[in-house]
Amino acid sequence: MPQTVRRLVSNMPRSKNKTQFVCESCGNDTPKWTGQCSSCAEWNTLVEMRVDALETHTRAWDVAPINDAEELSEISVDQVPRLETGSSEVNRVLGGGVVPGSLVLVSGDPGIGKSTLLLKLASDVARVAGGVLYVSGEESAAQIKIRAERMGLSGQGVFLLEATDLDRVIMEVEARKPKLVVVDSIQTIYNARLEAAPASVSQIKECTRLLMGWAKSEGVPILLSGHVTKGGDVAGPKVMEHMVDAVLYMEGDPISSWRLLRSVKNRFGSTNEVGVFEMSSSGLTDVEDPSQAFIAERRDDSFGSVIVSIIEGSRPLLTEVQALTNPSIFGTPRRVANGVDFNRILVVCAVLSRQVGLPLATQDVVINIVGGMRVDEPASDLAVALAIASSVQDVPVRHHMAAIGEIGLTGEIRRVPQLDRRVQEAARLGLKFCVVPSVGSESVVPPKGMELLPVETLRQAIRASIGVSNVLRTSDAVES
Ligand SMILES: Nc1ncnc2c1ncn2[C@@H]1O[C@H](COP(=O)(O)OP(=O)(O)OP(=O)(O)O)[C@@H](O)[C@H]1O
Ligand SMILES: [Mg+2]
Repeated sequence: MPQTVRRLVSNMPRSKNKTQFVCESCGNDTPKWTGQCSSCAEWNTLVEMRVDALETHTRAWDVAPINDAEELSEISVDQVPRLETGSSEVNRVLGGGVVPGSLVLVSGDPGIGKSTLLLKLASDVARVAGGVLYVSGEESAAQIKIRAERMGLSGQGVFLLEATDLDRVIMEVEARKPKLVVVDSIQTIYNARLEAAPASVSQIKECTRLLMGWAKSEGVPILLSGHVTKGGDVAGPKVMEHMVDAVLYMEGDPISSWRLLRSVKNRFGSTNEVGVFEMSSSGLTDVEDPSQAFIAERRDDSFGSVIVSIIEGSRPLLTEVQALTNPSIFGTPRRVANGVDFNRILVVCAVLSRQVGLPLATQDVVINIVGGMRVDEPASDLAVALAIASSVQDVPVRHHMAAIGEIGLTGEIRRVPQLDRRVQEAARLGLKFCVVPSVGSESVVPPKGMELLPVETLRQAIRASIGVSNVLRTSDAVES
C-alpha cells in the first residue's frame, strides 16, 4: 500500500483579500463577476464571496489526502459496518443503515417532521452505538427536551449543542468524538471567516464542504437537515446536493398523518426507496405494512375508488386511487390531480372520451391518491381510468379488486414491469381479483385465492371491473 501523504490545504498560497463570485443557482466559482453564469447560463445569479480571512486558517480536519494512483484490482476494501438507525424504514431508505463518514441531507417542507425524525434517529443510535451530538441552530435545548419528552425518549447519550458558528461545532465534535453528528439545520450554520450572510450560497457551500471534510477524515456520519425553497427544491446551492452522499426528502400531506421519506440520491444504495411513517403526538413511528395502512379505510362499496399496486423502490405497495366527477359549472371542465401527474390525467381523460365514449367533456374530474402518496408510474393509468369510469357511472368496481396497467392512446392496455410481484402483494392483502394487461400476464402464476382478469383494451377492463352502463351501451352501438 502506498503511503498516504497529507497536506494542509491552508498551506496553499492565497492572495490577500481575495474575492470570488459564486453562482447561487449552480454553485460555480469564478474570479470575475459576469451577468450570466458561465456554467448554468442563469442570469444575475453571481454573488460576491470574500475568502481573505481563510488565509491563516489551519485545522486538522481541513486537509486533503494525497494518494498515489492504485490499480482498481489491487484496491482492498475494509467492510465497515453500517450504523443501524433503529428504524427499519430509515435503514431501507439509506440502503441498510448510515455509512460511516457519510453526509446525509434530510430535506422537506417546514413543519413536516425533519427535526422529529433526526431526534428519533439520534436517540436510537445513541442507545445502540454510543454518544451522538445534536447541533441545533434553530431550536433551544429546552424546546428539544420538550420534544424528546413528548416522544418518550430518555435522551441518554444524546448531547445537545445550541450553536450556529461552525468553529464551535467543530470544536465540540473534536472534543467529544461522537458516533453520529446531527446538524439541524445546515442553513443556520455559518463560518465566521466568510463575510457572506448565514444561509447564503457561499456559507452553505463552505460549511457543507468543511463538515464533509471532517466526516470523511474521522469516519463519522453527519445528518444534516435542510430547508426547501418555494418550488420544493433543497434551499441553497445545487452543488450541496452533489457534495453530500445521500439526499432524503420527507414529504406528506400536512393534514394527513402519513409521512414518506424518499431517497432522491444515494451513493450507497438504490434511489427511489420510500420509507413510510406515521406522525403522531408521540413522534414518528415506522409503518411496518404500508399497503395495509393505505387501504385500511377504503370501503368496497364506494364508487370512484380503485386499488392499485405500484412499485416503490424495491417493494410493491398497494394504495387507493380516488376519482370524483361532477358536472362542470364552467365552460371548460376542470381537472385536479393530487398525487398524480396532471398531464397523465389529461391523457387518461382523453382516452376515456374518445376510445370508450365516456362523456367527460362536461365533467370536472378530481383525482386523489390516498395517504399523500405520489404515484408517477404509468402502471397506475388503468386504476385512474377505472376510478373515473366508476364515478361517472355511480357504480363501484368489483369488490376486493386491484387494477394494474398502462394505457396507450388507442385504448390498449400495455405491459407493466414486475407484474408478478404486484399481483402477489394484492393477494397478500386479501384481494381476490386483479385486472392486468393481457400481454405479460401469461407467465404470472396467480397466488391461491387470486383470479387474474387479463384485458387488452380499456373497454374490456371497464366491462371486467364495473360492468356496462347505459352510457357505454350507447357508445357501443355508435361504434358498431
Ligand atoms: N405538541 C405536539 N403535539 C403533537 N404533535 C406535535 C406537537 N408539536 C409538534 N408536533 C408535530 O410535529 C411537527 C413538527 O415537526 P418538526 O419540528 O420535526 O418539523 P420540521 O420539519 O423540523 O420543521 P421546521 O422546518 O420548522 O424545522 C408538527 O407539524 C406537528 O405535526
Ligand atoms: Mg426542524
